[in-house]
Amino acid sequence: MPQIIKSNRVRLFEVGPRDGLQNQSAQISTDQKIELVDLLSECGMDHIEVTSFVSPKWIPQLCDGAQVLAGIQRRAGIAYTALTPNLKGYARARDAGVDEVAVFAAASQSFSQKNIHCSIGQSLERFAPILAAAKKDGIAVRAYVSCVVACPYEGAIAPTDVARISKALFDMGCYQISLGDTIGAGSPQTISAMLKAVVDVVGPQHLAGHYHDTGDRALANIEESLRFGLRTFDSAVAGLGGCPYAPGAKGNVDTGLVVRRLSKLGFETGVDLHKLAQAERLALILKQKGLAV
Ligand code: HMG
Ligand code: MG
Repeated sequence: MPQIIKSNRVRLFEVGPRDGLQNQSAQISTDQKIELVDLLSECGMDHIEVTSFVSPKWIPQLCDGAQVLAGIQRRAGIAYTALTPNLKGYARARDAGVDEVAVFAAASQSFSQKNIHCSIGQSLERFAPILAAAKKDGIAVRAYVSCVVACPYEGAIAPTDVARISKALFDMGCYQISLGDTIGAGSPQTISAMLKAVVDVVGPQHLAGHYHDTGDRALANIEESLRFGLRTFDSAVAGLGGCPYAPGAKGNVDTGLVVRRLSKLGFETGVDLHKLAQAERLALILKQKGLAV
């Protein structure tokens, strides 16, 4: 196992505006999305995933990504990011002025087919031109791996499969691999088994935990990941969201809960809980709106 990082600084990557709002059944207005991102910009995270540039046919909820990026008040020191599945999405994201993009793959063939309509191998082929273009444009590329412990269609996923795809994405030039427990099925035991395999091939300083909270174990899974040296975690304000291709999956772990748990454990996030409360109020209204439809 590589050397464990001892830093007590943890970075939170706020994914609520994307991972959260992509799953809302109600139409959320562009202005409300802009207001949510602006409130989050006050809170002290250094990354906010604002939207995705995927096919509007599949995710109509985020079809106004360019307008949202054009409308937000950008704060220095924050990277405003977006998901891009292919070169078309990358070009749309770049033209909208993102600071960073994320490609997204899966450790499960069935999930890859359902989510992005291609095999894992084909997804890597689609990402190669994104990496090449982003390098030219000076835009950093992050990568997600979904289904790192279980898949809604295939069940348990082998840790060696997660390690293989994580290494392939890192070797392509993705600066960080975010490990997605898409359906929140992980436990400290299964997360530990997965991380044992992954940290052997990609150092923990290049990994992030992206844990959905379906099983109410996301905080325990973060604690387990800290032991492996991970110091970046994705979270969503007020636990917004889920994945439309993972039925029943709850939102990403709640940002406020993560900040509080990390603080108790002696880790600093730099997130201002007082300011976060304002973003939480709006996120809860949007969540209620989604549930009402
Ligand atoms: P496709 O439908 O399989 O086929 O798209 P296509 O490439 O032939 O495109 C079909 C149509 O979409 C064409 O338009 C394309 O031009 C258009 P038409 O000719 O029919 O008018 N198109 C696009 N339009 C705008 N932007 C684009 C784009 N690409 C194609 N970028 C594709 C394949 C991947 C694009 C599609 O399947 C898709 O957009 N899927 C959505 C996947 C998604 O957003 N899933 C949720 C996010 S992943 C997630 O939540 C997991 C994560 O949180 C981690 C975790 O929790 O595990 C990240
Ligand atoms: Mg997710």
